Amino acid sequence: MSIEQMLSSKPQRWLVTGSAGFIGSHLIQTLLTHGQDVVSLDNFSTGHQSNLDEVRRLVGEEAWKRHTFIEGDIVDPQTCQRACQGVNIVLHEAALGSVPRSIENPLATHAVNATGFLNMLVAARDAGVGRFVYAASSSTYGDHPGLPKVEDLIGKPLSPYAVTKYLNELYADVFGRVYGLQSIGLRYFNVFGTRQDPNGPYAAVIPNWAKAIRGNQPCFINGDGETTRDFCYIDNVVQANVLAGLSTHPESANQVYNVAFGEQTSLNTLHQLLSEEIMALDTSVKFTPPVYRDFRKGDVRHSLADISKAKRLLGYSPDFSVRAGLKIAMPWYVAKS
Ligand SMILES: NC(=O)c1ccc[n+]([C@@H]2O[C@H](COP(=O)([O-])OP(=O)(O)OC[C@H]3O[C@@H](n4cnc5c(N)ncnc54)[C@H](O)[C@@H]3O)[C@@H](O)[C@H]2O)c1
Repeated sequence: MSIEQMLSSKPQRWLVTGSAGFIGSHLIQTLLTHGQDVVSLDNFSTGHQSNLDEVRRLVGEEAWKRHTFIEGDIVDPQTCQRACQGVNIVLHEAALGSVPRSIENPLATHAVNATGFLNMLVAARDAGVGRFVYAASSSTYGDHPGLPKVEDLIGKPLSPYAVTKYLNELYADVFGRVYGLQSIGLRYFNVFGTRQDPNGPYAAVIPNWAKAIRGNQPCFINGDGETTRDFCYIDNVVQANVLAGLSTHPESANQVYNVAFGEQTSLNTLHQLLSEEIMALDTSVKFTPPVYRDFRKGDVRHSLADISKAKRLLGYSPDFSVRAGLKIAMPWYVAKS
């Protein structure tokens, strides 16, 4: 059964935190499109009203009526309690992303990603939520050299951000053992797609480079460009979240899963692919070679996910390769910049 059929066959009440952000806004878009009731929560610290406006336009006014938005901060326990009322499934995305941001300001990252996360777990437990799905991260693999990354083999975290994301997994596991809260952690690997913020010092590589290439500016590569990532298109991530929220497999809960496409792409290749896509969309764009600079603190050299666990227990089947995802996402970036 497709996720669309799974959703339509049983409407439920979902809470999506971080809904004005990149991943959260795609989650509410899919849920609303397929008949679900959605409460969502965001404090606009890195998210934008324009993302919510775009989702409203895409899903239409009828579907939008099934959405209740709460502007609030997960660092406030009462806001979390309010948001969880009457909710069957939580998709918890709200966090401060970015490794460099956490290195510059570990307290801010900890407050949202650790304390805010714990507030959400307590609120979900108290409200009797059936399933708590949360955004974990590939950064939890830290300095473990193994490739591809398998869920049980992790190393030491390389940044405060990675510490908080690992802490999430530890807390979720303990809430399962102690209070019986069902959780699923999704370790995302470099997600990309429309509505990922291209602006600011902590922008992710794909939106950042899309903006530079469009403006005929050079892209900066940290290191020699042979660093690899397992880039994952947003629709694959939405699929994983819906499956995690609805899975009835007896062994699927209280686990963490890699969510990626399962292929390595070097930064040099990514630069080439992005340039080709954007030059095809806008003939005024000319190829500009990248500028190489020092490796960045806290970055891992190679990243590639083993996605067999998510395939086996959740039925995850990513439909979009990096190239296919870039083809869908780039017209949005070209139109915006
Ligand atoms: N994008 C990726 O490649 C990636 C990779 C691994 C993990 N993740 C995780 O996925 C989740 C979503 O990431 P994203 O890329 O959509 O980032 P994003 O910054 O676009 O979205 C995060 C959203 O959370 C909101 N938020 C932040 N602090 C909040 C708070 N205190 N209270 C309420 N809302 C708050 C922000 O305003 C924003 O809208 C995060 O937990 C992130 O750590 C993302």
